[in-house]
Formats: sequence, structure tokens, C-alpha cells
Amino acid sequence: MNIIKVKDYEALSEVAANIIIEAVKSKPEISLGLATGGSPVQLYANLVKDHKENKTSYAGVSTYNLDEYIGLDPSHEQSYNTFMKNNLFNHVDINLANVHLPNGNTSDHEAEAKRFEELVANTTIDLQLLGIGTNGHIGFNEPGSSFDGKTAVVDLVQETIESNARYFEGNEDLVPTQAISMGVGTIMRAKAILLIASGKNKAEAIKWLVEGEVSEDLPASALRNHPNVTIVLDEDAASLLQ
Ligand code: PGA
Repeated sequence: MNIIKVKDYEALSEVAANIIIEAVKSKPEISLGLATGGSPVQLYANLVKDHKENKTSYAGVSTYNLDEYIGLDPSHEQSYNTFMKNNLFNHVDINLANVHLPNGNTSDHEAEAKRFEELVANTTIDLQLLGIGTNGHIGFNEPGSSFDGKTAVVDLVQETIESNARYFEGNEDLVPTQAISMGVGTIMRAKAILLIASGKNKAEAIKWLVEGEVSEDLPASALRNHPNVTIVLDEDAASLLQ
């Protein structure tokens, strides 16, 4: 694993955005795996800024998002579909026909998970962006998830619901309890992985990911078995590393 430590969230967002920008420039038809959450917000803002200033084009880029809440229509303001439009897709020249997220509002969630897994299986994700949960989840693969897991309907654990309540008026009762998420096995098929983590609340998970036991109890530790992983950390997230 290539570990890059930087001072703060600003620096992390710049370094990680530059990795994606260089990847897009070197392969204009790149297939990107994308993530939502607080961690990549400034990174996406940097991609938009670079697109406007330097004309980096996304016209040939395809994207596949990690996950989506079950029970929220794609147009819901807290859906990950809306997040991606607000933070990236609406501000660059990407073709919306080439962006892919699971749909959390179909009549058959299992069938939708299968459809999405097949879609991802039929492509090669060149670069997968990941955040990490305070409990070490990647996507919505909570502790105990199989390292071989495929895209599936998953239950969110209480820690994740509490952590995401900030986007739902601080009200845990409004947070969906299930999601459709790429599995750890789906994620591991990406050619390269870029994980970003910022803040003291991520330090324990990062310590385990980098120095601890490879175990399904910390889903992110699967990445230790992946040949091409870059982790960008700010000082707080790296603060417990030896
Ligand atoms: P965050 O979430 O970026 O909002 O901290 C990361 C995650 O839960 O994977």
C-alpha cells in the first residue's frame, strides 16, 4: 500500500483530486468507481474547478458508484444519485448515460443489486475511490462482510446510521436502514484503489487497516491483499500509526 500523509483535509482533497485528474488525462475513456459521504466533497469540488480552469474532460469517462440507500428515490435530496449530481456530474461534461448507480427505489431490490453487479462485472473499473467508515466499512460493507461479497442488499449498522444522521436533520429515524452496495469482492476487482480518510474519528480504523490483522471484522483490511492501493490521510486520520 502506498500511504500518503498530508496536513489536513484541504491538502488531502488536493492530492487525491490530482491523482484522479492525472488518471483521466492519461486515459480519457477511464472507468471510475466513485464514493459519496463527507470525505470526497472537497475532492469533487477540486475536479470541478480543474474542469473549468484546465478543461479536463469527462466526456469519455464512465462512472460506477459504490452504493445507494434503499427507499430513497434517485431524485430524493439525500440520495447518493442526487449527491453525485450536486457535487460532480452537473458541473462537468460527463455524459449522464455513462454514470451508473444502484437504484434504491425499485420494486425488487435483490434484482437491482444483481443488475448492478453484472454491470460492474462487465467492465473493468480502472480506479475506485473509497472513503472508510469509523468501523472500517467500505461502501456499506459493515464489519463481518465477506471479502468475496458481491453487490447486495445490506443492512446498515447502528454506528453508520448515527454517523449519517447528520444528513437527515440529525434524526436517526429518517436514515434508511438498508442500502444496495458493491461487495468487498466487487470493489477488489478494481485495477487501482484510492482511499481517503480525514479526521481523528477515522484514526482507529486506519491503524487497523494499515497495521492490524487482515480480517472481515474490518472490511477495509481486505485492501491489504490488493496489489495497487493508495491511501491519502490527513494528520488526524494518521495520528495513531506507528
Ligand atoms: P464519510 O463516510 O466520508 O462521510 O466520513 C465514509 C464512509 O462511511 O465510508
